[in-house]
Amino acid sequence: MMRTGTIFLLLTAVVACNQYRGLPEPEADNDWKVRPLQAKPQDLSGDPQRGLEYLIYGDYIGSGIPFEFLEKKLGDFQDTVLAREGNNRRLPYTFNAFSAPNGVEVVSGNCFTCHAGELNGEIVLGLGNSRSDFQDKMTFQARMMNFFVKLKYGKKKPERAAFNDFGHYYKAMAPKVQTDNPGVNPAFRLEEACANFRDPVDLTYRKDAHFRSMKYTLASDVPPLWNLDKKPALYYNGMGRGAFTKLLMQAAVLGIPDSTQARLVHERFHDVIAWAASLQPPAYPQQIDPAMAATGQELFEEHCSKCHGSYGEDEHYPGKLVSLEVVKTDPYYARYFSSASGLADWYNRSWFARSAPQSRLYPSDGYMAPPLDGIWATAPYLHNGSVPDLESLLDSSQRPTYWQRRPGSHSYDYERLGWQYGVPAKGKGQQVYDTTLPGYGNQGHYFGDELSREERRAVIEYLKTL
Ligand code: HEC
Ligand code: HEC
Repeated sequence: MMRTGTIFLLLTAVVACNQYRGLPEPEADNDWKVRPLQAKPQDLSGDPQRGLEYLIYGDYIGSGIPFEFLEKKLGDFQDTVLAREGNNRRLPYTFNAFSAPNGVEVVSGNCFTCHAGELNGEIVLGLGNSRSDFQDKMTFQARMMNFFVKLKYGKKKPERAAFNDFGHYYKAMAPKVQTDNPGVNPAFRLEEACANFRDPVDLTYRKDAHFRSMKYTLASDVPPLWNLDKKPALYYNGMGRGAFTKLLMQAAVLGIPDSTQARLVHERFHDVIAWAASLQPPAYPQQIDPAMAATGQELFEEHCSKCHGSYGEDEHYPGKLVSLEVVKTDPYYARYFSSASGLADWYNRSWFARSAPQSRLYPSDGYMAPPLDGIWATAPYLHNGSVPDLESLLDSSQRPTYWQRRPGSHSYDYERLGWQYGVPAKGKGQQVYDTTLPGYGNQGHYFGDELSREERRAVIEYLKTL
């Protein structure tokens, strides 16, 4: 009896060890300032083209609004951005029409709702969408959508079954994603709200919430996807560890019915991550002064490389997580995950963490010093998008407390590197970014202040070349 017990214990220990083998452990959270993160090799052997096709046609959100329900409202719309085929051609590039598990064609948002941005009048896939606006309440919309789909299809029709999961999660996330600033993206709040009503093990819907969630919505800028192959960990706070394929498919919590479906989606992300790793940043489209850029490179290597790495032939990226104490940027986003949100705990008990290949969320009180490839194009800056251009990122005295982007997709400032903006006389306004709100502060990252005006100009000239 005793022996069997011991063997059983040993076996569970072995299974547990195997389960966690190869995954970096979270760093001990004592007194730290800057820590390089250990990269886990990612499998990038998938087919990038197939990955892109899955992203723009695929079923990774699992359920959605029946296509038939929307069809009349679409009119003669033809999308020219992705030039897709079939019913997808009739949808904006930010939506996919796909078959739900029961065969009914449904429509949901896709990754490019957030991960495609407009630059110089063109949509660039992989550039973060800094134009989204989550300031309007979505609760009424979510309730109405549920009401009308249920009214039209009753209880028994397959269209209703193909909508149900999405309907639940849409209602759950709607009250949690309203932001107080334009341009910022509450993707993790959306995920948190959906995860909250999913069984972590089999991912099925459950009526009761697992954890309490704060009322106030923190949101971030959307990072570009072309740095994926350099990063040892994902997300601004470096919390995304282990298999990136699992981390990349997190948006699936918005509608997939269960872990069986999640497994099928995950197989396709083998190709999706290969696509993301194949992305290149857009090249700076105007003249660059080579002598000034060379001076800038020297200054950069002296003042910035230890955190952001070096570029060109001898590329090196140290993958450093920098504590709040050192970087001094707004702490709320990092602290939200390390001490307030129930998401990391749910995630680390969930199918995403427990089934192979494993991934984890290890939040900490710091932010990653990101790779700066294509940085000229990714305004606004810092994790919360609180700084409109690089000139003011490097000279903190120039950062506006309130600012409003000039409208139009051609309003990029190719010298200051960022969005042209105005400073509204009264401060407030629907399209004004207010840096006095909790979580949206523009303080910190004072490393450029050490340089003179001319030196900063040279560094900016160099940044155009990355
Ligand atoms: C609702 C908007 C939204 C959707 C939809 C969305 N994302 Fe994101 N994504 C974000 C935001 C915001 C972040 C930044 C969060 C952070 O880093 O803390 C992010 C981060 C990422 C990152 C990490 C990048 C890095 O450098 O750390 C990857 C990779 C990614 N998303 C891929 C995807 C893929 C693939 C999909 C579709 C399956 C997707 N996302 C759907 C908003 C979204
Ligand atoms: C001690 C490490 C450290 C040093 C030194 C440093 N940075 Fe950073 N940098 C960071 C961290 C951490 C962030 C992310 C902060 C955040 O998002 O809140 C960052 C963010 C940035 C960003 C914004 C990235 C984005 O996508 O929004 C730019 C641009 C940047 N740094 C440029 C520089 C330049 C240029 C220098 C040298 C003058 C420099 N940094 C020096 C750690 C550092």
